[in-house]
Amino acid sequence: MIANESLAEAFKDDFLIGAAVNSRTIVSQRDLLLQHYNSLTAENEMKFESLHPAEETYTFEAADEIAAFARQNGKQLRGHTLVWHNQTPDWVFDDGHGGSADRNTVLARMKAHIDTVVGRYKGTVYCWDVVNEAVTDSGEEWLRPSKWLHTVGEDFIAQAFRFAHEADPDAQLFYNDYNECNPGKREKIYRLVKSLQEQGAPIHGIGLQGHWNLIDPSLDEIRAAIERYASLGVKLQITEMDVSMFAFDDQRTDLTAPTDEMLRLQEQRYGQFFRLFRDYKDVLTGVTFWGAADDYTWLDYFPVRGRKNWPLLFDTNQQPKGAYREVVSL
Ligand code: XIL
Repeated sequence: MIANESLAEAFKDDFLIGAAVNSRTIVSQRDLLLQHYNSLTAENEMKFESLHPAEETYTFEAADEIAAFARQNGKQLRGHTLVWHNQTPDWVFDDGHGGSADRNTVLARMKAHIDTVVGRYKGTVYCWDVVNEAVTDSGEEWLRPSKWLHTVGEDFIAQAFRFAHEADPDAQLFYNDYNECNPGKREKIYRLVKSLQEQGAPIHGIGLQGHWNLIDPSLDEIRAAIERYASLGVKLQITEMDVSMFAFDDQRTDLTAPTDEMLRLQEQRYGQFFRLFRDYKDVLTGVTFWGAADDYTWLDYFPVRGRKNWPLLFDTNQQPKGAYREVVSL
């Protein structure tokens, strides 16, 4: 494989290569996106609060612009995300009198949202993250305490899948989560998806977000997670990949460039990950990065604001990093 060829081209026989984009990056990273990625995800523009800020108000401009960019340039589009505990407005759960809305009201609002949004992008969005991050990270509790769980009950997840399937029977419907390779959480996700299947809910895939770093998770944990999820007979995608230079709780904010050691480890990690992904190309249908180049990454703001990070395959000048060359030359 020639090192300067495109990323998507290098994996064209294996899986789609995607990037999260936003209203600014479809302009500032346009050439890079056009050359290297064949799938896109809206970073925030298709989330509930962006599309549906009040019950009678839908705001589609930014999402439509991304959908048009994908369509005009022949890119696949993943939809992210319909039902999540974050970036969802309070009105969805309020009764209008300072209390909490009842189950039927919240379910009706969920259905209206899903019908409208999935219906609008039918034929453009080929795959939806229907429910995002519904299980807890640790402890005995299984489902994450959230307003969805509190007002609707445990079946809010199955209901979301049913509504999405009714709105677009051709869309591939995914459950998406992070810390997905952690053995304890992996089993909760496995159990959730299995129970959805047993209830007959239309679920076709599991998204492994892939917010990883130079140390975690181990290759063995990633392999174990892929095998466990694949045993459910669903498709898998890596949906939000980045390889942070820092451990999650590292508070360091002084670095203005990655060290050589960080870059070397990151190259090695990316090479190992993509070698592993290739082993599973029959079940893995896409690998999406949460951004396209290090000039813009959400990790500059999360979890430590102002801690510059360099988690992607292209640098702050949108030039290929060593990690890029490692990955395309496998
Ligand atoms: C993040 C965006 O990148 C940020 O811009 C926003 O402020 C918060 O959400 N898991 C997900 C994504 O499923 O939607 C999140 O995106 C990152 C973690």
